[in-house]
Amino acid sequence: MSLIKIINFKNLGDERGSLVALEANRQIPFEIKRVYYIYGTALGVARGFHAHKELKQVAIALSGSCRFMLDDGRHQEEVVLDNPAEGLLIESFLWREMYDFSEDCVLMVLADQFYDEHDYIRNYDKFIAITKC
Ligand code: TYD
Repeated sequence: MSLIKIINFKNLGDERGSLVALEANRQIPFEIKRVYYIYGTALGVARGFHAHKELKQVAIALSGSCRFMLDDGRHQEEVVLDNPAEGLLIESFLWREMYDFSEDCVLMVLADQFYDEHDYIRNYDKFIAITKC
């Protein structure tokens, strides 16, 4: 099964332009508790380098593009996000790295939990050890 789970959002736009609406437990498969966004990322910067024990997220490139690498401890897969009408569902226990941010990239992330540093696994060796259990 692919690690890359893309959710295609309906474009409610018309001749005036595009419109996407996101609702909890509908287009987004969880209760949304937190929204954050990454923008103005410096050239060549990579982010992420962690997994979560519980957190589920959906990442959407509202503008521009970036590349995601997801790793479940066995396989790694990559995807480019460059379409505001699609979201990448990132479940728990997936190591993620984001890079190749375009200058205009605005990456919005919807999350099902408040920020909690205890939910992070920031050490790749520890992540691999946990996924082997
Ligand atoms: P960081 O974990 O480095 O982000 P990335 O996953 O993109 O590498 O987060 C940067 C800082 O922002 C760090 O001090 C934690 C803080 N932060 C919050 O306070 N709330 C949040 O929702 C997030 C995602 C980060």
